[in-house]
Amino acid sequence: MAVKRFIFSLWKGASHMVNVDTAETRTDAATQQNAPGHGRTRFALIGTGGRSEMYIRAIFGPHGDTAELVALSDANPGRVDFYQNLIQQELGAKAVASFEPSELTQFIKANGIDRVIITTPDYTHADYIVQALEAGADVVVEKPLTIDVEGCRRITQAVAATGRNVVVTFNYRYSPRNSALKEIIQAGVIGKVTSIDFGWVLDTVHGADYFRRWHRDKKNSGGLLVHKASHHFDLVNWWIDDVPQRVYASGGLRFYGEKNAAERGLGARPERGTQDGTAGDPFVLDLRDDERLKALYYDNEKFDGYRRDQDVFAEGITIEDNLALTVDYDGGPTLSYSLNAHSPWEGYRVAVNGTEGRAELEVVERAAVVGSDKKTVVDPSATPIEEEDAVRRNGERLVVQRHWEAAYEVPIINGEGGHGGGDNLLLSDLFNGPGEDPLGRPSGYVDGLRSVSVGIAGNKSLETGLPVRIGELGLGIDLSRQA
Ligand SMILES: NC(=O)c1ccc[n+]([C@@H]2O[C@H](COP(=O)([O-])OP(=O)(O)OC[C@H]3O[C@@H](n4cnc5c(N)ncnc54)[C@H](O)[C@@H]3O)[C@@H](O)[C@H]2O)c1
Repeated sequence: MAVKRFIFSLWKGASHMVNVDTAETRTDAATQQNAPGHGRTRFALIGTGGRSEMYIRAIFGPHGDTAELVALSDANPGRVDFYQNLIQQELGAKAVASFEPSELTQFIKANGIDRVIITTPDYTHADYIVQALEAGADVVVEKPLTIDVEGCRRITQAVAATGRNVVVTFNYRYSPRNSALKEIIQAGVIGKVTSIDFGWVLDTVHGADYFRRWHRDKKNSGGLLVHKASHHFDLVNWWIDDVPQRVYASGGLRFYGEKNAAERGLGARPERGTQDGTAGDPFVLDLRDDERLKALYYDNEKFDGYRRDQDVFAEGITIEDNLALTVDYDGGPTLSYSLNAHSPWEGYRVAVNGTEGRAELEVVERAAVVGSDKKTVVDPSATPIEEEDAVRRNGERLVVQRHWEAAYEVPIINGEGGHGGGDNLLLSDLFNGPGEDPLGRPSGYVDGLRSVSVGIAGNKSLETGLPVRIGELGLGIDLSRQA
C-alpha cells in the first residue's frame, strides 16, 4: 500500500529531471527561451505531412508564447499550402514563409532559425539533421533518429563538431500508462530487473498502413524494426534504465506482399485503394473517404506522384510483417520482443520480471477491426475509438505482484489529447524546456541512437542469421553504460 501511495504522489508532483545519460547532449532549451532579452524560439519545420500537424497546432496554440513558426518546407508544395491554409483559416494566424528543402542551410542562416523540426520520411532525417546543425540550428526530430549505421555516424560527427542539440520526440514515454510502469520499476517495487517480455500487435488497419505508404520500402523506413519498434526499444531502454548490447532477430514478410497473396489465392487486386469498385475490401484505404487524407495526399499527387494508398498485396514490399528479437542488456536483463503487423486487434503486452516480483502492462487500443470507422481511424493510439467486441475491450491495465503477495492494480491517470495526454506533456517539455523530471522522459540524441541501434542490429541479424553486437556496428560512438 505504501508503495502505491508513493507512486501516486509521484504522479501528482511529476515535474522534471534531466536524464543523466543525455545531459551532455542537450543545450537546455528552457534556459535559452527564458533568458532575459531572448525572444521566442524561431522554428522552421520541414516535412508537412501527417505528423507535422501536432507541432504546427502546438506553436500556434498553447506554445505560441515561447515558440514562433517562421517557415514551412516540403518536397510537395501542395502539402505546404495545406498547412498554410490551416494556419490562416483555422488557427487565425498569418501564413508563414516557405522554402525549398534544398535551401534549408541557406534559410537557417539568413533567417536566424534557432530550431528545426524534422517530420520528413525516416531516410531523410540524417541529411536534414546534419544540415541544420552545421547551419547553426538545434534539431527536434521525429523517431526514428535515422535508419542505418551511416546515418548514425554522420549525426554523431555533426553533434560532436557543432556541440548543438538534437531532441528525438519519443512521445510514448509520456503516455501515462508507460510512465506508470517506469515509476514502478524505478521505485524498486519489483527489485532488480532480470528480463522483459514485450509483444506488440498492429491490426489490419494500422499495421496494413505501413504496407501502403513509403514505409513499405526498407530503404525509406529501415523496416518496422527501425520505423516502428524504435518507439518500443526506447521504452524498454528507458523503463529499465539500461543499454542494449547484443541483438538476435528473426522474421519475415509472411502476410502482406504479392507472394503471400498469391499463395493464399487472393486473386487479382486493385492497384490502389482509391479507385472505384474497391468498396468492401477490408485492406483498401480510399483516401477520398476522409477529408484530411484527400486534401493532404490525394489532391497533391499531381506534384510528386506519391500514392499513399498502394495495395498491401502488391509487389515492391521489402519490409517484414512478423518479427522476433532477443536483446541482451549491459546490466544483465534479456528482452524478448515480438511485433506482428496483421493482428485482428491492436495493442501490447509487456511483462517485466524482477528479483522481487513482476509488473504486467496490458493495453488494448482497438479491440477489433469492425464497424464503420475501420478505414479512416488508422492509428487508434492517436485517435481513441470504441469498437464492439464482447470479449476484448479497449483499455489498459497495470498489475503488479511482489513475491509472496497478492497482485494489485496500479491506477493510470490519463489526460486530454493523443496517447492518453502524453503528446501534450511531450509538447510542453519541448517548447517550455525540460526541467526536473523524476522520470527522465525528455530524450536526447543518445537515446535516439540507443533505440535505433537495436533495429539496425536487428536488420543486420536478419541478413546474416547471427547475433549482432551493437558495439561492433561502427556507429561512431560508444553507447555502452561504461562510456
Ligand atoms: N511519434 C509518432 O507517434 C509518429 C507518428 C507518425 C509519424 N512519425 C514520424 O514522423 C515522420 C513523418 O511521418 P508522416 O506520417 O508525417 O509521413 P507523411 O508521408 O505524412 O509526411 C512526410 C512528408 O515529408 C515530405 N517529404 C518527403 N521527402 C521529402 C524530402 N526529401 N524533403 C522534404 N520533404 C519530404 C512529404 O512530401 C510529406 O509531406 C516519420 O519520421 C515518422 O516516423 C512519428
